[in-house]
Amino acid sequence: MERTFLMIKPDGVQRGLIGEIISRFERKGLQLSAAKFMVIDQELAESHYEEHKGKGFYEPLLEFIASGPVFAMVWQGDNVIALTRALIGKTDALEALPGTIRSDFAVHTNFNLIHGSDSAANAEREIGLYFSPSELVNYEHTIQRWV
Ligand code: RTP
Ligand code: MG
Repeated sequence: MERTFLMIKPDGVQRGLIGEIISRFERKGLQLSAAKFMVIDQELAESHYEEHKGKGFYEPLLEFIASGPVFAMVWQGDNVIALTRALIGKTDALEALPGTIRSDFAVHTNFNLIHGSDSAANAEREIGLYFSPSELVNYEHTIQRWV
């Protein structure tokens, strides 16, 4: 069982796509572990995207990610990191495969609706930035044996 950090970005919230996006992960058979509706401050934005510091899109990215509420989540399941990245689609909407979230709803790279951790190490790091251990809910998901 693996965990990942997913976050609907300010554009996804403003466009009313929280339910649409979450339903895709539910229908896939993944398990929700934690969720928080919040506004990211500058310090958290910098920590989240520290790997991109110095790149041309870094400053606009920080401004964008803190520009309105986000919906932060932890999901778990076998291979959840790769599976959710596949459901999300490539960073650039032009390259995202049809049927992915970014292909179906995004037009521009900088308004690509959702963040998903790209490795186990980043997933643990990002979960720790947004949630305390006590906020991760452990419960029996009875459908799991059929997934
Ligand atoms: P994310 O971290 O948000 O899930 O997106 P990602 O892994 O698909 O893409 P990443 O390379 O981590 O980039 C983080 C976010 O920065 C913006 N970006 N703009 N060339 C560009 O203009 C460019 N490249 C990246 C995107 O908003 C991307 O989601
Ligand atoms: Mg990334």
